[in-house]
Amino acid sequence: MATHKICILGGSGFVGRHLAERLSQGGHSVRILTRNRERNRENLLVLPGVEVVEADVHDPIALEKQLEGCNVVINLVGILNENKPGREDYPPERHGDFEKNHIELPRLVANTCGHLGIPRLLHMSALGANPIGPSAYLRSKGIGEEIIRQSGENSAEMGHFNYLTGPKLLWGRGLKVTSFRPSVIFGEGDRFFNRFAQLLRSIPFFIPMAGTNAKMQPVWVEDVVSAYVQSIDDEKTYGKAYDLCGPKVYTLGELMAYTQSLIGTHRAIVPLGNFVGNLQASIMEKLPGKVLTRDNLRSLSVDNICTRKDLADVFHIQATAIESVVPGYLRKKGARAERLAEIRNRRA
Ligand SMILES: NC(=O)c1ccc[n+]([C@@H]2O[C@H](COP(=O)([O-])OP(=O)(O)OC[C@H]3O[C@@H](n4cnc5c(N)ncnc54)[C@H](OP(=O)(O)O)[C@@H]3O)[C@@H](O)[C@H]2O)c1
Repeated sequence: MATHKICILGGSGFVGRHLAERLSQGGHSVRILTRNRERNRENLLVLPGVEVVEADVHDPIALEKQLEGCNVVINLVGILNENKPGREDYPPERHGDFEKNHIELPRLVANTCGHLGIPRLLHMSALGANPIGPSAYLRSKGIGEEIIRQSGENSAEMGHFNYLTGPKLLWGRGLKVTSFRPSVIFGEGDRFFNRFAQLLRSIPFFIPMAGTNAKMQPVWVEDVVSAYVQSIDDEKTYGKAYDLCGPKVYTLGELMAYTQSLIGTHRAIVPLGNFVGNLQASIMEKLPGKVLTRDNLRSLSVDNICTRKDLADVFHIQATAIESVVPGYLRKKGARAERLAEIRNRRA
């Protein structure tokens, strides 16, 4: 397999850390762009061939400087909630953090790749992303994905989408794009099972919760990473978007119950209807950390499940079940920390 010079935006996050580790093992040279290099020293700098660079990826000049010399770009930047929300009197995905990170950034990244003649761009979208989806998160992700799709060399066949008006683009210089649309991703260091466990341990007796019937199909981070790594050099994935799901569908309530069975708590989960759920979310979204927002609830109003089996059919990956992985990291902490310590010792 060819080795590449790969630049990852959002490479310091949960998925990015796993991806960087795999790319490093594959002998690739990896540059991770972050807003805070110091925060990522322990986690990433120890990996051979990985450099972590502090840069403002939203600044066209800074981005161009960092992407120069790379032949593959991977964009993983994404947020679940906005600190600066969109305007109330306009579609909410516009003019806030969702627009900045999910729409304008993909546009800038595609534009910069086109400008520098970088041939390959992999983009992280989300299952259910849709320009006319029910939440600002899903709409902004959908528009960003559409921008990436149209920036690829097959864009002429894909028609135009009227949200795409913007600065003149430099696409069409042979950029090969692939988007990935995972359901909720689990694995060591995730914000899903780990956050449930934290919530269940910290709240006594019972937890009132909306969206417990929402369906999802959790996919293992290492399976997602395998799809990314394979797709870099696989021509059949050029210009395509892939839905990534685990082997089984669960409701949110079932996943909470499963988490309880692993960590040994017995809280009653009290399902809330739409009205009370929204009321609860409208309070919680004002608290630090924004555990739950009304926009999150709108995302949960559509099932987050796959109708295709892209992991198996395209990448020949047999999706891993939560039961084979989650007990390992919810019960026992620090397997990744142990692995990194081992690498550190080997290099010393
Ligand atoms: N985790 C899931 O269950 C899941 C499911 C579907 C789709 N996705 C998508 O997968 C991608 C990665 O998810 P993740 O779970 O790894 O997320 P994460 O752990 O929250 O990491 C997000 C990354 O984005 C960067 N970032 C966040 N806000 C930014 C901003 N304003 N400007 C520049 N960079 C910013 C962060 O970099 P620094 O803080 O270092 O600057 C971080 O590396 C996202 O696009 C997400 O929407 C995730």
